[in-house]
Amino acid sequence: MKKTILSGVKPSGQAHLGNYFGAMKQFVDLQDHYTGYFMIADLHALNTVQDAKEMAENTLNLAIDYLAIGLDPQKSVIFKQSDVPAHTELTWILNTIVTMPYLSRAHAFKDAEAKNKEVNVGTFDYPILMAADILLYDTDLVPVGKDQKQHVEIARDIAEKFNRIYGQNGDTFKLPQELIKEETQTTPGIDGQKMSKSYKNYIPLFAEDDEIQKLVMSIVTDSSGGLPVNVYAIHQLFRSEDELKKIYAEHEGKYKVLKELLAEDIKAFIRPLRERRKAIAADKKAVLRILKEGGERARAQADMRLAVAKKNVGLTIEE
Ligand code: ADP
Ligand code: TRP
Repeated sequence: MKKTILSGVKPSGQAHLGNYFGAMKQFVDLQDHYTGYFMIADLHALNTVQDAKEMAENTLNLAIDYLAIGLDPQKSVIFKQSDVPAHTELTWILNTIVTMPYLSRAHAFKDAEAKNKEVNVGTFDYPILMAADILLYDTDLVPVGKDQKQHVEIARDIAEKFNRIYGQNGDTFKLPQELIKEETQTTPGIDGQKMSKSYKNYIPLFAEDDEIQKLVMSIVTDSSGGLPVNVYAIHQLFRSEDELKKIYAEHEGKYKVLKELLAEDIKAFIRPLRERRKAIAADKKAVLRILKEGGERARAQADMRLAVAKKNVGLTIEE
């Protein structure tokens, strides 16, 4: 029996190099060896995207992105979170066993609270919805970037707690593990902070050449050390350490030249992906069909696990 992997990306903007190398590339690399569920986390994105047209566009775009990087609907289930009502239903059940102080310790909530005095309930409850996403599919592994490690730990904690409270008929949920690739766990953005849609410091995964050029030239360089660390960190995604050592020694201190070399490497990498994406985007109906079929397959699994959970908490009356 193949093990199961599940992961998701929020349709809250354009996919970027950090998303790809931190998470999405692993989805593709792993899909031959695992049963894969790859989700568009639209319910999670509602916390930040509050414009219907933008949400629908982002969601379709992310579905196209998934296909363009090589996710294969014959091998994996590609679906939209909101197409599977079991996610919100299980979220409620899990809400009732998790305490407020426990959730208040989540990094994402603390960060949101530090920036914004009035955090919405959806942001506070975000890790529980994510736990439901993961637990409904009997997930073994969750490929993500480092920033999501705590969320997978929370999902594991919640599964353990549920199994403990409602364990009269054995375990309801499998305990998931995060799968984080050391080398690409945190890609910096052009300002040196973590690359993120929400910081607007990202290089889009399907950017056009002139956009790549402009963004790379604006990467913040720290002139104190001789090595432009942010340029180098992004360059590591495209070349081996040995190659980079030579290049950076040869052009020591010449930040403009090094940035130009990086821009060329990114362009060469993105070009075929972008072409592939254009071809897929030309057939919107086919993409929508893939999402619809993915939703049906996801629902079959999720409904089964939800039914067990409902029975074990006593929401089902035996005849
Ligand atoms: P963002 O932070 O840009 O909104 P998401 O939260 O949708 O991105 O993240 C989708 C996936 O990409 C997650 O697994 C996340 O850990 C990963 N990821 C996001 N940004 C980075 C980054 N800068 N480096 C590595 N992985 C990242
Ligand atoms: N919270 C994740 C992120 O911001 C996206 C996500 C939602 C997810 N549900 C998930 C990732 C389930 C892995 C598994 O990147």
